[in-house]
Amino acid sequence: MPTIEIKGKHPLFGTIAVQGSKNAALPILAATLLCDDDCKVNNIPPISDISNMQILLSATGKQIKQQSQTYLCEASKEISPFASYDITNRLRASFLVAGPLLAREGYAEIAHPGGCPIGARPIDLHLKGFSKLGASIHTKNGYISLKANKLKGNKIYLDFPSVGATENLMMAATLAKGTTLIENAAAEPEIIDLANFLNEMGAQISDAGTDTIKIEGVSSLHGGEHTIIPDRIEAGTYMLAAAATGGKVTLTNVMSEHLTPVIAKLKETGTNVTMKDTTVTVEGKSSYRAVDIKTLPYPGFPTDLQAQFCAMLCCAKGTSIITETIFENRFMHIGEFKRLGAKITTEGRTAVIEGTPRLNGAQVCASDLRASAALIIAGLMAEGTTTVSDSGHLLRGYHNIVENFKSLGAQIELFS
Ligand code: UD1
Repeated sequence: MPTIEIKGKHPLFGTIAVQGSKNAALPILAATLLCDDDCKVNNIPPISDISNMQILLSATGKQIKQQSQTYLCEASKEISPFASYDITNRLRASFLVAGPLLAREGYAEIAHPGGCPIGARPIDLHLKGFSKLGASIHTKNGYISLKANKLKGNKIYLDFPSVGATENLMMAATLAKGTTLIENAAAEPEIIDLANFLNEMGAQISDAGTDTIKIEGVSSLHGGEHTIIPDRIEAGTYMLAAAATGGKVTLTNVMSEHLTPVIAKLKETGTNVTMKDTTVTVEGKSSYRAVDIKTLPYPGFPTDLQAQFCAMLCCAKGTSIITETIFENRFMHIGEFKRLGAKITTEGRTAVIEGTPRLNGAQVCASDLRASAALIIAGLMAEGTTTVSDSGHLLRGYHNIVENFKSLGAQIELFS
C-alpha cells in the first residue's frame, strides 16, 4: 500500500475538473449485462473500483474495450452467471451484477461480497426484493444462488432506502413480467442516472429519484449510449479541502444541485460558495464556525463526505456534533485525527468535535476510501509533515488525486 506525505499549511488555489461518478458508473456497467447489444458509456472514471468491475464483467463473458474514459461494452450472446470470491471480495458493488444476471439468465451464483471496515453491510434487502420478484434463494459455502425462470413484477417495500438494493431490484424488474413498485426506494442522483440509462436501453422506469419507483417490465432491452453524471463526492472532497485550507478553488463539471446539503453546511461555517452553470467556487476563511452534521439518505447530508467534513471541523471555532446514521462504524478516521491533535470524543454514532486552533503533522493510517481523503485534508491543514500510510484505498475512488492537489499548490508526494 502506498504512503502519502503532506507538508501542510499551504492554502489551495486553482481549478479542478470533476470526474464521472464512481457510484453511477458501477451499476451502469453492471446494467450492460441486461442486453446482448453493444453499449457505449462515456465519462467513466479511471479508478480501481471500475477496473475491478471490468474484470468481473469479463469473467461473465462481457468484454469491454476502453478508449480513454469511454467504455464500449460489447455484445455478448453467451453470459456465464457466476462471480467468484476473488473478485467479489475486492469490490462491494460486485453484487450489483446479481439483478441483471438473474433477469437475463434466470440464474446467478455470486460469492457473498462480505463486510468492510465501515460496517457489516448485509445484502438482506436485495435478497428480500429478489424473492418478492419470484426468485428462489440458496446460500452455500459463501455463495448465493438466485433462480427464477421468469421474474414477476411485485410491490417491494424496502425497510431502509438502500442505494444498492434499489439499483439491483430496478435492474432485475426491467425484464420481469408485469409492474414492479419499489417503495421507500433510495433517491440518490446515481439512481436517476441508472434509470436514465436503462430507459435508453428500452426499459420503462418512472419516478426514479422519488421514494416510489415504478418499473413496467419489458421482454428485452437493446444497446444504448450514456454519459455518466459528475461525481458529487469527488467534488465535495475538493470543496472541503479548499475551505479547510483557507484557499479558493473552482470545480468544473459539477451538478451543484447534487451538493445542496454540503453547500448549505459549508455556508453555515462562513465559507463562501458560489455557483455558476456547471462550476462551483469555494473560498475559505482563516477562521470559520463549527456546525452540526447528521448523515442521511439523499437528499440529506452524504455519509461519503462525513469524514472529510469532520477533518475541516477539527479547526472550527466552537464545538461541532456529527451524527452518522447510515453506517455503524464510520468513525475510524477520528482516532487518526487525534494523532494530529484534534479534540474529539465519540459515543456510539455521535462525535463531538471541539475546534482547536491548529493540528500538528504526524504519522497516520488510512482505513478506507473516504477516510483516506479526509486524512489528506487534515494533513493539508496541519503544521509540519503528515504521513498517511495505507493510502492505496484512494485509488478506488479518486483519479489523480495527488496530481490534482499538487496542481492546487499542495506540497504532497506519493511513495509507492
Ligand atoms: C452506496 C454507495 C456508498 C455509500 C452508500 C450510502 C455505491 C457503489 N456505493 O453503497 O458509497 O456510502 O451507498 O450512501 O453506490 N443495508 C442493509 N441491508 C441491505 C443493504 C443495505 O442493512 O441489504 C444497510 C447498510 O448496511 C448500510 C445502509 O443500509 O448501513 C446503507 O447501505 P446502502 O445504501 O445499501 O449502501 P451501498 O449501496 O452499499
